[in-house]
Amino acid sequence: MENHELLENFKSTGIIEMYTGLDQSSPIYFGYNIQEKFLDQLENHSFDRLFFITDNNMYNKYGGTFWKMIHARYSNTKLLIVPDSDASKNFIYLESVCEELIEHGISKRSVVIAFGGGAVGNLVGMVSALIYRGIRYIEIPTTLTGITDSTLSNKQAINGKRGKNHFGTYYAPLFIWSDVKYLETESLRLRQSGLVEAIKNGFISNPEFLSYMEDILTNFSPLQLTGFKLFEVSYNIIQSKMKILQLDPSEKSYGIVLEYGHTFGHAIEWLAKGKLVHGEAVAIGMCIASELAHRLGYISQEIVNLHYKLMKKLELAVGVPPFIELPELMEIMLSDNKKTGEAVKYILLERIGNCLNPTGDYLVEIPKNTVMEVMLKYIRMHAIYSKEKAIESA
Ligand SMILES: NC(=O)c1ccc[n+]([C@@H]2O[C@H](COP(=O)([O-])OP(=O)(O)OC[C@H]3O[C@@H](n4cnc5c(N)ncnc54)[C@H](O)[C@@H]3O)[C@@H](O)[C@H]2O)c1
Repeated sequence: MENHELLENFKSTGIIEMYTGLDQSSPIYFGYNIQEKFLDQLENHSFDRLFFITDNNMYNKYGGTFWKMIHARYSNTKLLIVPDSDASKNFIYLESVCEELIEHGISKRSVVIAFGGGAVGNLVGMVSALIYRGIRYIEIPTTLTGITDSTLSNKQAINGKRGKNHFGTYYAPLFIWSDVKYLETESLRLRQSGLVEAIKNGFISNPEFLSYMEDILTNFSPLQLTGFKLFEVSYNIIQSKMKILQLDPSEKSYGIVLEYGHTFGHAIEWLAKGKLVHGEAVAIGMCIASELAHRLGYISQEIVNLHYKLMKKLELAVGVPPFIELPELMEIMLSDNKKTGEAVKYILLERIGNCLNPTGDYLVEIPKNTVMEVMLKYIRMHAIYSKEKAIESA
């Protein structure tokens, strides 16, 4: 879509309809400040009851008003509030939300609405997939990660006792209602998280898009992206992910490249126990993955440096937090969902825009010792940098 068309949609609070292109492809209604139009869209679907699920934080910010708008039109609506972030992405909440919906009379003809970031979306996706083997659900993402990443894939998951996203399924929403206006109140950390995944899309599949993101981050700090610029950037990030998904509509082969940096990232996020958000951990994970690919002779130092440069523009630290020990990191990675047998497999860059695929598999098995060696060097190198920084600023 040309820039002027986007601008027209933005100015007129128009709605752009897109499709994920997956085997089960859901419509995405994308716009800016489109909340008032939601009921018109909902009216196209019949249901006996509506269930509106949001987190405590989002209820106070926008969810309460949204729910009241729906409730004023449909009296058969029930509200459920869950703890925010990953605090509810587990078996305990999966069970309690499922049971509560059954208690309140959910049927095969009901619709569930998820209002919030990727965590609420994932939990509600799981709940909807499980109840009576599948209830229709609508996603209303309120974070950049939600709008440009998590809602585009049909991957739903909860965390287990030993790691992130260990239990999940593929389940498509009835539709996705993406209103960029909500992103205006995102915290810096949330915004950074979404932008990290955008940079990742560039590295793994699209040099042009990576240059576009570099330009954007050179001219705007993450929170300076507002109004039309935020709308345009969100749209372009969505397109970058869709191009990848369209090459693998089943999300089971090439689509795995979207997990670049996530083997390290998920383990770091898990061990950080809430001190790091998803994007912060993935940023570190991508930098480690680039060092690993460089150590194995696949990519140049220049490409590794580009990782650091972009993370710096994003105002993100790339050091592994000092409270995380290498042996525990290795142990968690060995329980990663990309583990096969006794080895962990990694997605590695071959060049900007291409991932390594030596044997027809984008998951490349690397000897544990090589990974340990690279990680040890990485941890030391970035610990020295942080120490120097501390001395400089003292
Ligand atoms: N399914 C997928 O493919 C996929 C992809 C990426 C991430 N995820 C998952 O998504 C989760 C992370 O999601 P997230 O980064 O969207 O955040 P989140 O859902 O964890 O929310 C983080 C915090 O931001 C708040 N928040 C949400 N929207 C806000 C807004 N507009 N203004 C102010 N505060 C707001 C929430 O209430 C919460 O306190 C992780 O569990 C991750 O594993 C899944």
